[in-house]
Amino acid sequence: MGDKNRIYLFDTTLRDGEQSPGVSLNVEEKLEIAYQLASLGVDVIEAGFPISSPGDFQAVKTIAQKVKGPIIAGLCRATRMDIDRGWEAVKYSESPRIHTFLATSDIHLRHKLQISREAALEQAVEAVKYARRFCPDVEFSAEDAYRSDVDYLAQVIEAVIEAGAGVVNLPDTVGYAVPEDFGAFIRTFMERVSNIDRAIISVHCHDDLGLAVANSLAGVVNGARQIECAVNGIGERAGNASLEEIVMALYTRKAFYQKETGINYQEIFPTSRLVSSMTGMLIQPNKAIVGDNAFAHESGIHQDGVMKERSTYEIMSPELVGVFKSNLVLGKHSGRHAFNDRLRQLGYNLDENELDRAFVGFKETADKKKEINDDDLHALVKDRARAVPERFRLDYLQIIAGTRVIPTATIRLAIEDKVFEATATGAGPVEAGCHAIDKITDIYGKMIDYKLQAVTSGKDALGEVTSRIKIGENVYNGRGLSTDIIEASIKSYVNAINKYYYDLTLNSQE
Ligand code: KIV
Ligand code: ZN
Repeated sequence: MGDKNRIYLFDTTLRDGEQSPGVSLNVEEKLEIAYQLASLGVDVIEAGFPISSPGDFQAVKTIAQKVKGPIIAGLCRATRMDIDRGWEAVKYSESPRIHTFLATSDIHLRHKLQISREAALEQAVEAVKYARRFCPDVEFSAEDAYRSDVDYLAQVIEAVIEAGAGVVNLPDTVGYAVPEDFGAFIRTFMERVSNIDRAIISVHCHDDLGLAVANSLAGVVNGARQIECAVNGIGERAGNASLEEIVMALYTRKAFYQKETGINYQEIFPTSRLVSSMTGMLIQPNKAIVGDNAFAHESGIHQDGVMKERSTYEIMSPELVGVFKSNLVLGKHSGRHAFNDRLRQLGYNLDENELDRAFVGFKETADKKKEINDDDLHALVKDRARAVPERFRLDYLQIIAGTRVIPTATIRLAIEDKVFEATATGAGPVEAGCHAIDKITDIYGKMIDYKLQAVTSGKDALGEVTSRIKIGENVYNGRGLSTDIIEASIKSYVNAINKYYYDLTLNSQE
C-alpha cells in the first residue's frame, strides 16, 4: 500500500457490524453484501470471525472464494487455533489478510485475560509471526488501545511491526475518546515508534459518545491511513464509525484533509439500503448522508434558496451518493421491458432469473397499487430478485380478525408441486398465520423481533416487515413486502423459514 495521500477503507460491516445486537446474517446475505461492498470500492472487507461459528467460517470462505477486488480479512484472536481457522477461510482470496488481535489495556489484561503486560506482548508477537507463516498481509489490533498505557502500547506496536505486521490498528474499543485527544494519541506513536514507517496505522472507533467519525478523522489528520468502519455505522453497542459519513467528509472537505479514497460514491446509497434491509436495522430519517431526510428541505426559506441555487443549503448533491429521485411511475400496464429499463436506470443489472422473479412481484403489486414509484421498485428488487430459494411459498392466505372474534388464519403453502393447507388461531392475525405455517412445515419458529415500515407514503403504501425468527439455536431475518401488512408479516415468517431450510441444505452438503 503506497500512496501517502490514499486512505484505505476497511469495512467491518460483516464482522463488527454483524455483532450489532439483533443482527444475524446467513452466508447468502453476507455474500450479497460483500459483492456490493466490492462495487462500492472498499479496500478491505472484514468478512467475519471464522472460528466463532461454522456459519461465520463458511461465510468468510465463500466471500474469499467469490468476491474479487478488495482484500478479504478474517478476524482471529492471537492464538494458533484461531489463526489456523482464519487462514483456512481467507486463503482462497486473491488478496487474503489475517487480522489478529489482543487487548493491551490494563483493564482488559487484568480482568478479562488475566495475563501480565509481558505475557501479552509475547503473545502478540508470537501471533503475528505465526500468521506471517501463512499470509504476507497481517494486521494486528491492540484491543482497547486508547485506554492502554502509552509507553507499553508503543512497545507493542514496535514489536508487532518487527514481527511482520503490515497494518497496526489502534481501536477505541469502548468509544471513550474525544477527537483532539484521539488525534494526539495517534500522533504520539507516529513520532515515537522507530519502525512506524514500515506499517500502516489504522483506527477503529466505536460510537458510544457519538464521536466515532470525528475521532477517526482526527486519527487521519495525525497520520492514520486506514479507517475501519461500517455501513450505516452498525456495530457493537452504539456501533462503529459510519463508512458513508467518513467517505463524504473526506470528499466534501478534500481541501482540508487532502486525502483520496477508492470509493464509487454512487454506490453509497444502494449499499446503505441493502445493508439496512438485510440486517433489519432501520436507518433513522435524519441520519447523515443516507437518511430519508438527508437531502430534504422542509422550510420555505430553504426550499426557495435551493430552487434558486442548490449550494445555498446543500453541501453535496444527492445524486453523487446515488440518491436519484424521479417522478416517473410505472403501473399495471407497464411491460417487462419498461420495468427492466427503469431498474437499469436505478443501477440494477438483474440476470434473466432475477428479473423474472422481480417482475412477478411487480405485477402482483401493480394489481393492488395504481402507481409504482422508485422506492417501490427498490423494495421489490430486494424482495424478489435476491431471495433464497423458495422451498415454501405462500399460495393463499385468509385471515379472520376483529374486535370480537378469535383471530383465525387459513394458509395454503406450496411445497414443490404440492399444496398444503392448515387453519390455526392465535392472539392476533400474525400469530394465527404463523401457527398455521408451523402446522404445515413442522418447523417451529419463535418471533423475537418484528418491525413494520411503509416503503412509500399513501394509504396504499407497500409495507415492509422485517422479523427475526429463532429456529433451534439460530436466528433468521425474514422479510416480507405487500400492500397488506398481514400478508407482509406472514411472508416475512415464510422467508425466515426458507432461510433456515436453505441453511440446512447447505450444511448437509458440507
Ligand atoms: O473494537 C475493537 O477493538 C475490535 C477489535 C477486534 C478490532 O473490534
Ligand atoms: Zn470493534
